[in-house]
Amino acid sequence: METILKDNRRTIGTFEVVEFVDEAQIEGLRKKLDVDVPLELHWTWEYGSEVEELRALYERGKRGQWNAEEDLDWSTPLPRNEWFMPQIGASLLSSVLTEIGADEATCREAAWDEFSHLISQLLHGEQAALQLCGQLVNCCPTMDAKWYAGSQVIDEVRHVEAFSKFLQRKMGIIHPIDPTLKVLLDKLLEAPTWQAKTLGMQTLFEGMAVGIMELVQRSNTNPLIKEIIHRVHQDEARHAAFGILSMRRLVKESDPETLVELEDFAFNILETLNANQQLDMLHRFGPKYGLDPEAVVQSAHTWEQWSLVNSEPYMHTVMPNLMRLGLITERTEERYRERGMLVGDHLAPRAALPGV
Ligand SMILES: [Fe+2]
Ligand SMILES: [Fe+2]
Repeated sequence: METILKDNRRTIGTFEVVEFVDEAQIEGLRKKLDVDVPLELHWTWEYGSEVEELRALYERGKRGQWNAEEDLDWSTPLPRNEWFMPQIGASLLSSVLTEIGADEATCREAAWDEFSHLISQLLHGEQAALQLCGQLVNCCPTMDAKWYAGSQVIDEVRHVEAFSKFLQRKMGIIHPIDPTLKVLLDKLLEAPTWQAKTLGMQTLFEGMAVGIMELVQRSNTNPLIKEIIHRVHQDEARHAAFGILSMRRLVKESDPETLVELEDFAFNILETLNANQQLDMLHRFGPKYGLDPEAVVQSAHTWEQWSLVNSEPYMHTVMPNLMRLGLITERTEERYRERGMLVGDHLAPRAALPGV
């Protein structure tokens, strides 16, 4: 598989980044609303349960339903002039601005911008999850998987609802999708086989979502944000469990050649996401705060703890799951490490799956 976004790559220091500087290219990606996706539809006449654990997860999903309009307290305020996260450590912009001596109000405004931007990207991701999950209903071969994917569709609708209402009602803005994210989401939606779609959606996508939400949850003090993330996170953990269960079967049934393809597919998607190093966000807000995106990335790379911080959203769920599935081998492990996405040596495949 070819490197994704080859023409958008350059190095900052020794690190290869993906960067968009051409506004026309960015606009072009955002305007590409119609995506031609290959989809194989499978009927099945087996209505009994063939995969008991999937059926159990489907039951759990039904019990875990909630209503984004009624079960969240939308009257909770989110004042723009109050901190709802620490000034340093939770927002890249605020941390950097603090370091160079910007006043507190400026740091708070930057943290607000970055947070609304992050939730906007999660929202666009949720829309992609909704679309992709709809595809899975068609292309999964077993009835258990179709049932589960069907129930996940309504979960993803609810996530789109919760995040879009939060942004509109509490932050007053929905930022457009970042170009790197648009390219990657299209790649997942365009994946040719149900195997690649399942890996992309249920392992890469859900795993990243869970990792990022965990980070947001940890640093946030606003009760509404905490409640939304808590509820969405519970659904996502179930989705990630579905991913592991179906991927475990899929890996067992795949020939070595397919496994190599899946391993490369996972690496290419995640590596590209990481290669952006928040440059899309930095290009959007850098000028407003007098920050040079390249300088911010360069300075982040000098932090002693950089790879530890950088790897956090990956190490939370995606890396352990890929490892467990045998989709990180000596072929790719070192490459993940070089790019600061995989750290430590505690990634030996675990016998039991937590939360399943
Ligand atoms: Fe979701
Ligand atoms: Fe999900």
